[in-house]
Amino acid sequence: MNIIKVNNYEEMSKKAAEIVLEKLNKIEKPVLGLATGSTPEGLYKLMCEANKAGDISFQDVTTFNLDEYVGLPEENEQSYHYFMDEHLLNHIDIPKQQAYIPNGLAEDLEAECARYDAAIEAAGKIDLQLLGLGVNGHVGFNEPGTPVTSRTHIVELDDITREVNARFFEDEAEVPTKAITMGIATILEADHVLFLVHGEKKAEILRKVINGEVTEDIPASALQLHPNVTVITDIEL
Ligand code: F6R
Repeated sequence: MNIIKVNNYEEMSKKAAEIVLEKLNKIEKPVLGLATGSTPEGLYKLMCEANKAGDISFQDVTTFNLDEYVGLPEENEQSYHYFMDEHLLNHIDIPKQQAYIPNGLAEDLEAECARYDAAIEAAGKIDLQLLGLGVNGHVGFNEPGTPVTSRTHIVELDDITREVNARFFEDEAEVPTKAITMGIATILEADHVLFLVHGEKKAEILRKVINGEVTEDIPASALQLHPNVTVITDIEL
């Protein structure tokens, strides 16, 4: 893994934006994998600004989000659809039909997983996949125990994940118990993975992800198997 050490969240976002914009400008019809959560908010802000300034166009970009809660409608402020609209999609010139997010309200969730995988396959490959890290070692919502061979699937959220994400909800009971997530195999097939990890609370797990053994107990450790991962972090390793 190529590790870029930065001093703080702002520097992480700036460096990430540089890498994203360079990649998007280099490829004719780029496919970008997106994450939600607190980590990429600063990066998305910079991407919106770059689009507004005319430094980048998203007209030919296709995006695939990593995950979505099961059972939250798009208008729900905690849904990842809502998050993406607020933080990125509503502020850039991407045609909305090119921005894919799993549908957590699908009647047939298994069929939705298959549809999502087929859409990724039809797009070719993901050129650049953004990732954040959960304190339990998850990437996307691939919770501990997820096999590296996994494709898009329905997951029972870990208690730790629900506890950590409760900060966005009025109370923990409102946090959905299930989600739909892109699998680890798909993440590993991306051409380049941009892994952003910020803050001391992630230090212990990040060290295990990078220096520990590759294990299903820490799903992000599978990134050691990928030949082109860039980690940008303010954590001293
Ligand atoms: C979100 C996602 C998650 C988050 C992770 C870190 O789409 O895939 O894996 O990246 O939970 O979340 P934050 O950034 O809120 O610390």
